[in-house]
This record gives sequence, structure tokens and C-alpha cells, in this order.
Amino acid sequence: MTSIDFEGKTVIITGAAQGIGAAAARSFAEAGANIIVSDLLDSVETVAEELRSAGVKATALATDISRPENCEALVDLALEKFGRLDFAFNNAGIGGMHRPVGEIQVEDWLKVVNVDLNSVFYCIKYQLPAMVKSGGGVIINTSSVCGLGPLAGSSIEYTAAKHGVIGLTKQVALNHAGEGIRCLAICPGYIETALTDKDKGGDVDEEGKAWFLDRIPQGRFGQPEDIGNIVPLLCSDQADYLNGTAIPVDGGFLLS
Ligand SMILES: NC(=O)c1ccc[n+]([C@@H]2O[C@H](COP(=O)([O-])OP(=O)(O)OC[C@H]3O[C@@H](n4cnc5c(N)ncnc54)[C@H](O)[C@@H]3O)[C@@H](O)[C@H]2O)c1
Repeated sequence: MTSIDFEGKTVIITGAAQGIGAAAARSFAEAGANIIVSDLLDSVETVAEELRSAGVKATALATDISRPENCEALVDLALEKFGRLDFAFNNAGIGGMHRPVGEIQVEDWLKVVNVDLNSVFYCIKYQLPAMVKSGGGVIINTSSVCGLGPLAGSSIEYTAAKHGVIGLTKQVALNHAGEGIRCLAICPGYIETALTDKDKGGDVDEEGKAWFLDRIPQGRFGQPEDIGNIVPLLCSDQADYLNGTAIPVDGGFLLS
């Protein structure tokens, strides 16, 4: 298999201070891409420093992608720094709490939908025209196995938002394939990050972890690199005929 060479190409990655986004940034760096890393957390700058010391051009922007103007600013930054936009990994997200629908406050619903779904639309809205001007591009959106179906213990607003990401992905792929754009959703299973692991501040307790592990045929939790390493591959020409689909990456979880 040919190795991936993204020299001269530019990618924007959201939710890149840690977890899946940071792993993807490291993988894009190995492929030689110019990288814009973004996150709500200021520590995203540390990731940019690490990428620069690995020899690639990388710039960080700490910003809230649930506001459309910030997503536009990210695209402007990519064009200002690197003159083009080829790829985007719209990955930032938050979890939601599992509880009966009547107990979900409207504010909680709106918060999750704003970060997990609306932000993906805002990002695509500004990324896509910039990619078309650059001669085409690839957009990868992070959904979840919860975007493919409901899951015991998941929150209603999270599952709804992640389903929305897949609908958005498919329609964008259909509407814009003729302009040289591919759009895909990646659907992680259980990945050990700050979002999930209680010991990293996440919301899955020991009982929940055991429930998952029981149902993962490969017998282990996913690591951020299990997702991050696939993203450049999906953006590469080797995946050129892959479009508008939602790809589970879950150690076989959905089979069980
Ligand atoms: N970890 C899992 O098991 C799992 C499973 C399925 C899907 N996902 C999805 O993967 C993506 C990455 O999550 P992760 O597991 O790496 O968790 P993570 O918490 O390590 O990373 C998510 C990042 O998104 C950032 N973020 C949150 N809200 C933001 C905002 N408004 N603006 C900018 N940045 C914001 C956070 O600061 C954080 O750094 C999320 O979309 C999540 O829903 C994760």
C-alpha cells in the first residue's frame, strides 16, 4: 500500500486538545499535512507545539465551535496561514446525561445539539466553499455508534444529535459530490477518552464499562489512535470512492 503524503495539503481538526482529535492531528502530522488544531481548551496550543516539533506547520485556535462565526474564523485562519483547505475533521463533541425525556431541561437539549450537531453544520457551511476553491476536499464528521441506533444508557439528546450528524453527512455528500467533495461520518464505539472514562472525568462508571466490554468481540476498549489513525486514510485518494456513508469503528460492538 502507498504511504499517505499530504505535503502542501491543509486540514482543520476540531476537538483536538485531547482524545480522538489529538490522535488524528498526530496522524495527519505523520502524513506531512499543514494543520489547524482547534478546541475550547487553551491546551490545544500544546498539541500545536508538539506537531511543530515533529516538523509540520501547525497553528492552534482556542474557540467555541458552537458559534458559527468561530467556525468561519477557523476557515479564514486556514486560508490565511496555508492558502487552501483540503480536509476537515469535525470532531469536537460533548456527552449528555442518561435520564427520562421529561427530566431533560430544554437548556441541556440545546447545549448538546448545539455542540454535537449544529457545530458540524456551521463548520461545513464555511469549509465546503473553501475546499471547492482549492479544487475539492474531504469532510469527516464524528458521529458515534449512538448515531446508528439507540443504546441502553445513552442520553436522548446525544443519540439524537449523533443521528443528525449522519443525516447531515449523507445529504452534503449527495449534494456536493459533483464539486469534488466527499463527506463521511465515523462512528466510534467505546474509546477511552475524557468523554467516557470516569478516571479521566468522563461519564461511564465501572458498571457501564463492564457492560460495554462484555459486548466488544475484540475484547478491548478502543484507544484514540484507533479512530485518529483512520481519518487521514479516509481523506486520502486511496479512499476516493468512499462517500456519504457512516463507518462504525467499534471492535465489533455493533455485531453483538
Ligand atoms: N470516546 C468515545 O467513546 C466516543 C464514542 C463515540 C463518539 N465519540 C465522539 O468523538 C468525539 C471526540 O470525543 P473524545 O472521545 O475524543 O472526547 P474528548 O472529551 O477527549 O474530546 C472532545 C474535545 O472536544 C472539545 N469540545 C467540546 N465542546 C467544544 C466546543 N463547544 N468547542 C470546541 N471544542 C469543544 C473538548 O474540549 C474536548 O477536548 C466527540 O464528538 C464524541 O462525541 C466519542
